[in-house]
Amino acid sequence: MSTEPTPTRRTTAPQIAKRKGGEPIVSLTSYHAHTAAIVDRYADFILVGDSLGMVMHGMETTVGVPLDLMIMHGRAVVRGTKKALIVVDMPFGSYEESPAVAFRNAARVMKETGCGAVKIEGGQRMGETIRFLSERGIPVMAHIGLTPQSWNTFGGFKTQGREQDSWPLHEEDARVVTEAGAFAVVVEGMVEPLAARITGQIAIPTIGIGASVQCDGQILVLEDILGLSPRVPKFVRVYGQVGPLIEDSVRRYAEDVRARAFPTEDHVYR
Ligand code: KIV
Repeated sequence: MSTEPTPTRRTTAPQIAKRKGGEPIVSLTSYHAHTAAIVDRYADFILVGDSLGMVMHGMETTVGVPLDLMIMHGRAVVRGTKKALIVVDMPFGSYEESPAVAFRNAARVMKETGCGAVKIEGGQRMGETIRFLSERGIPVMAHIGLTPQSWNTFGGFKTQGREQDSWPLHEEDARVVTEAGAFAVVVEGMVEPLAARITGQIAIPTIGIGASVQCDGQILVLEDILGLSPRVPKFVRVYGQVGPLIEDSVRRYAEDVRARAFPTEDHVYR
């Protein structure tokens, strides 16, 4: 009998695509091997989002995130997980120039992290690139609505679809990314009726964040639901308060060190 470990079978992008209209798809971000191992037990896919620039590295927006940083965190998350599909965000500047540049960088992300898909922001303007990547072995999750990498052109993080005459543009974004071959699409910061309407119009799963309960799945930033982020958007439900727990542990450790109450006999080598 073989003593080889059984190879793990991760969720794949086509399996996520088939979940359209079915049981809601669960997703969270993770940037770190140990938290990813916990998320892996409950999520269908894990996004190594470029939000890591703001959440982990104190940046003001995601615009400054470099490709190498995404690869480093992507590797950590792949190492920490066994089951979920890992999707790595393509950062600003790594894919917009041309489909060929996007392919070169996305292939690097896939080879160097072992992830199963990449995510790129943009609707109609990214149609050609999504098609180019999908036809060449790179599953693409699209991202429409509020696309944080466009912070400078939007003039901030602005909810999309507030004026009903803009709806056809967002609907067209969703249609184009679907037809170009995206396996799913993140719908972020979009008024609820429009997100629900788009979900009913396209054949791939919509993954909502600040969108609608009618979306085929939901995603949130892990640190936001843990109460670890200093400013939490309206669309987040906070499930825990990990910040005070960390602070309490750090405070007690500092007190023990200052009082020479740590380390004790139990923590030293004789
Ligand atoms: O970067 C990110 O974390 C994201 C999600 C919040 C959708 O793009």
